[in-house]
Amino acid sequence: MGKIETKKTIMTIIDGKEVAAALRKQIADEVAEMVRAGKRAPHLVAILVGTDGASQTYVGHKEKCCGECGFRSTVLRLPEETSEEELLAHIDRLNADEEVDGFIVQLPLPRHISEQKVIEAIDPRKDVDGFHPINVGRMNSGLPAFVSATPDGILSLLRYYGIETAGRHCVVIGRSNIVGRPVANLLSQKGWDCTVTLCHSRTRDLKQVAASADILIAALGKAEFVTADMVKPGAVVIDVGITRLPSDKTKSGWRLVGDVKYDEVAPKCSFITPVPGGVGPMTIISLMQNTLKAARHEIYPR
Ligand code: GUN
Repeated sequence: MGKIETKKTIMTIIDGKEVAAALRKQIADEVAEMVRAGKRAPHLVAILVGTDGASQTYVGHKEKCCGECGFRSTVLRLPEETSEEELLAHIDRLNADEEVDGFIVQLPLPRHISEQKVIEAIDPRKDVDGFHPINVGRMNSGLPAFVSATPDGILSLLRYYGIETAGRHCVVIGRSNIVGRPVANLLSQKGWDCTVTLCHSRTRDLKQVAASADILIAALGKAEFVTADMVKPGAVVIDVGITRLPSDKTKSGWRLVGDVKYDEVAPKCSFITPVPGGVGPMTIISLMQNTLKAARHEIYPR
């Protein structure tokens, strides 16, 4: 008699909080070692223009994480009316400040300021967000570069869980410059060796394409878009989406959902990231790792 096949797949919920905590501890240990050796702690500066609530929360989380990693952290809070010229002058000053290893300008910016101009004014050697075209271009060419937080966080999760990528078909849904396009590029590179398909709003037969993925990355920003019929049994599903939906079941009056219909998709997967608690907690860690690399001049040796 042959082996009895069961239809059950063993599913692992990827715990972004646990991975983030492990990597944060690793960073903190390395910083403590640097400081013991007489070097100064890495210093991250965040520029926050205006009073956008979500941006204030993000920057608050970044400050807290800097503290936990042993970094020095400075937040430059500028009024909503700050002119583009004034902001560019702050950037010039931070570019030249030898006590600053990396800095970010929290987005979105007020409408009278060009985000692209601002991003391009940052010295690529201090661009720990990885948004400068020099870093984007170097990353695309497989050269050392600061990689932006979400794609880098996804790679860290795949690495931490030892998920096999070589030769596997990775389908990315969403072609944004900050997630879909870079993660598709990185996973196609040597070392990751995926066969990558990048899908978007004009992709034909998206359901069939998605269902052919060994690794499915949903980064299109549409709540619960990916349904069970779009997922191959045993696939790895990475959910980048985060949307607030109204809910009468929570005290806050809303609940967070991803781009994946989690309850119906999860039972089919080998691995899946939940929302919240999957990719989200990893992004700040990637920023911390980039700041440590900046302080050590790892990407751009002196
Ligand atoms: N706004 C939302 N996410 C980010 C980020 O990763 N970096 C910056 N600078 N602004 C953001």
